[in-house]
Amino acid sequence: MSDETVIWSRAVEEQTSIRLNDGKSIPQVGQGVFLVPPEDAERLVETGIQVGYRAIDTAAFYRNEAGVGRAVRASGETVFVTTKLWNGDQGRDKARAAFERSHKELGLDAIDLYLIHWPVPSQDLYLDSWRTLIELRDEGRVRSIGVSNFTIEHLKRIIGETGVVPVTNQVELHPALQQNELVAFHEENGISTTSWSPLGRGALLDDPLLATIASKHGKTVAQVIIRWHIERGLIVIPKASSEGRLRENLDVFNFRLDDDDMRQIATLDRGTRVGPDPMSM
Ligand SMILES: NC(=O)c1ccc[n+]([C@@H]2O[C@H](COP(=O)([O-])OP(=O)(O)OC[C@H]3O[C@@H](n4cnc5c(N)ncnc54)[C@H](OP(=O)(O)O)[C@@H]3O)[C@@H](O)[C@H]2O)c1
Repeated sequence: MSDETVIWSRAVEEQTSIRLNDGKSIPQVGQGVFLVPPEDAERLVETGIQVGYRAIDTAAFYRNEAGVGRAVRASGETVFVTTKLWNGDQGRDKARAAFERSHKELGLDAIDLYLIHWPVPSQDLYLDSWRTLIELRDEGRVRSIGVSNFTIEHLKRIIGETGVVPVTNQVELHPALQQNELVAFHEENGISTTSWSPLGRGALLDDPLLATIASKHGKTVAQVIIRWHIERGLIVIPKASSEGRLRENLDVFNFRLDDDDMRQIATLDRGTRVGPDPMSM
């Protein structure tokens, strides 16, 4: 085994995973690929898997499922793949057709996790879409099903109408938008929380308080933020465009934030979003 292979396998072994409410497990840190151009996706995901990522977060909307699928298939590794149903494809029949397209693009036997990307309350089709996801799961086409950008009301409605609890709700979450009320609801109902834009899309990387905590631990601000998600028990899917940053963002299993760090980071919650509001998207 080369030194490099030893480092990669250590990166995989050190990682923690989260047990979902249907008994499946997902690696706690995954590679996000929003805004990765289709022509770059295969190379970047190949690099991600080489440095130790074992979960990839894509979506039909990102138009890079084909590259993600090629990299995952070529790796020969077990990689947890999440993709998402886009807004214009909601509704019972359209959702099934969209799933078939994603399935074909990815070229994988079964998709690990399929999410409704946004509730889009104005079109009121998310409940019908959820029923289709339940069917796809029952048919064994997808291993786990969940949602993204759902509020407590949207979650209560789909659970109340179908009795099926999503395994996760993937929402914008970072130190400036800590989502405490929603995370508490998830915890009460056995729903895992996945943090998207976990680094605040880069906006938090020059925060002075985070810089102080980072220097105390001999880590970077990005690593401190990713560790903060891990300490909270969240699934976290940072996106990075270089091997160096992909490595950096996964090198977070050899330190811990203490209670004082967590208390200080709690003060950064300002309720500010970097992405759209789920009620109006
Ligand atoms: N469900 C949804 O509606 C939804 C919405 C948005 C995102 N997502 C998912 O969440 C993933 C992550 O969110 P995101 O891409 O919006 O934001 P993010 O992960 O919070 O931030 C990504 C930005 O941070 C930079 N960055 C990453 N690691 C860094 C490091 N170690 N040092 C300095 N800069 C670093 C990246 O730069 P470079 O790329 O230049 O390296 C990029 O500009 C997406 O890729 C996607 O999979 C889901």
